[in-house]
This record gives sequence, C-alpha cells and structure tokens, in this order.
Amino acid sequence: MTDWSSRPHAAAALETLGQWPNLVDAVEELSAEFGDDYRDAVERYVGRIGPASEPKADESAIEIAVDGYIEMTIDTLRLQAEYFRTGVFSSDPTEFEAGLHDDPELMLERYLPGLYLAQVFWPNHYRKHRWFADNYLPLVAADHRVLDVGTGPGSFGTACRANTDDVVFNDLSPHSETFVNRVYPDADHNFVTESFLDADFGGLFDHIIFSEVVEHLPDPAAGMDRLHELLAPGGKAFFSTATNAAFYDHTIIFETEAEIDDLLDRHGFDVLDRQSVLATPGPEGRDVVDINATITRR
Ligand SMILES: C[S@@+](CC[C@H](N)C(=O)[O-])C[C@H]1O[C@@H](n2cnc3c(N)ncnc32)[C@H](O)[C@@H]1O
Repeated sequence: MTDWSSRPHAAAALETLGQWPNLVDAVEELSAEFGDDYRDAVERYVGRIGPASEPKADESAIEIAVDGYIEMTIDTLRLQAEYFRTGVFSSDPTEFEAGLHDDPELMLERYLPGLYLAQVFWPNHYRKHRWFADNYLPLVAADHRVLDVGTGPGSFGTACRANTDDVVFNDLSPHSETFVNRVYPDADHNFVTESFLDADFGGLFDHIIFSEVVEHLPDPAAGMDRLHELLAPGGKAFFSTATNAAFYDHTIIFETEAEIDDLLDRHGFDVLDRQSVLATPGPEGRDVVDINATITRR
C-alpha cells in the first residue's frame, strides 16, 4: 500500500474513493508503476474534482463526478467491444450525438468529469499527459500565444498557463467553461465558446493544443485545414488522436498509424516528435494506439 500521508488532499480524496474499491486498487497499481509523479498527479486531479459537479440531495459532488467517470468508462468499453466484434463503429445519435454538447447532465456529470479523471485513472491518458509535460510544455514560452481547441475539461490549456498567461480556451460546449471554472477556480480563463471552425480568435497562435479533437469533427479534413490556418508560421501544435478508438461522438476511425501520418502530411504538417502508446490490444491488428505528437506547419 502506498503511504499517502504526505499528500493530505490526495489522501482525503482517496478516502472518499474508498467506496469504489476497484478504483482504489487501480490507483495503487499505477502508483506502484509510476511512482511519485503519479502520486502528485492524483493529488492534483482528484483533489480538484470535488466542486466539478453540483451536489444533489443524495449525492455529493465527488460521488457524481466519479460515477460519471465510471459510466463513461463502461460506455467506452461497450462501444469498443462492439467495434472490435463487428469491425463497424456507429455512435448512437439518438442518445448522444444530437444534444451531447448542449446537454448539461451528460456533459457535467459524465463526459467532462469522465475525461478529467481518466487523465489519471487510464494509464494511456496518464502517459500522454506525462509526454505532454516532458516534451511539449517546455516549448511554450512566456511571450507565446496558445489556443486549446476543444479544451473539454481544460487540463492542457491550464498546464500551459504555468508558462504563459496568454491562453485561449475554446470549446463548442458551453459546459466546458463551467467545468473548467469549477475545477480551476484560482485563475481567470479566456474562453471562446464556439466551434473553432467558425470562431474569430483575433490572430494566429504560437501553439495550438489539438488533443482528441479531429476524430470528433463531422469533417476532419476541414478541421486540419483550420488548424493549419490558425497556426503562426514556425508555430507548433500538440496533436493527439488514436487508432481504432470508439467513443460517444467519434466521427472517424483511423485503422492504422500510417493513416494518421498521411492525414498530417496531406494537410501540410511535419511531425517533429511523437509517441505511440498501446491503449488496448484489438483483434486482427485493430489495436487502440494513442498517437501524441509535436507538429509544425510545413
Ligand atoms: C474528447 S474531448 C477532448 C478534450 C481535451 N482536448 C482533452 O484532450 O482532454 C473533445 C472536445 O472537443 C469539443 N469539440 C468538438 N467539436 C468541436 C468544435 N468544432 N470546436 C470546438 N470544440 C469542439 C467537445 O465539446 C469536447 O469537449
């Protein structure tokens, strides 16, 4: 068992998590694998999740958030299993697509807390955040302008705030701003709540965070062109997506890493640095592999 006593916030949060023993076991396993960095991340993430949701008469805010994470994880496993079994991915438009981004319950009680907590509870997402912190974040300088497209729970944009004050948080969903302000109340966030395809950001960016966005777009090619258009010459983007990944609002499945490389190449990007993380082995080579990369305009 890990000794959490030097991290009182994390210890308190984990005590609350005690009612989900599988989750505590998973945290203990990852803690043994990743050590102190991981324990720091648990302290940061779990410690902040408390106010993420409005408490209800019969459920505290943290219970709502963790239940949301568990529901999102189970939904993902279900969608993934169906895709592995049939080779076809189809999201359920009646349940999710139509009103997902506007639906306060789905967004604030499942999707956003789910994504947020997955950053420490899913090993592949934790690896991605470490890669970002070690390899991308040092490129962000104090005088740089940063755009976090589809920020969702806001973790990447917030991490950039450690280096520069000039970070624009963007999301299609109005609930993203609510969530980010609840989880990170200690700073003002410059939010543009509108599709990044149409928004007027008033200039170009030295850095664009484009993490798990392209596979959510009805027209991924148009999204890649817009990313190119918004990036200043010499600017860099943190680009992340996955192969064979089924999720609520995914619009496209990349079957191979080569397809992703080809997409970047076709839209005028060079890859400066990249990481591939096996998230879930799939049948017939259809593995879920996260691709995390630093890219630049050619
Ligand atoms: C899977 S989440 C990724 C969140 C975050 N970037 C991360 O990696 O943790 C995708 C996010 O993109 C947002 N989104 C989808 N289409 C968008 C668009 N056209 N413009 C801006 N945001 C969009 C969704 O609302 C959602 O919050």
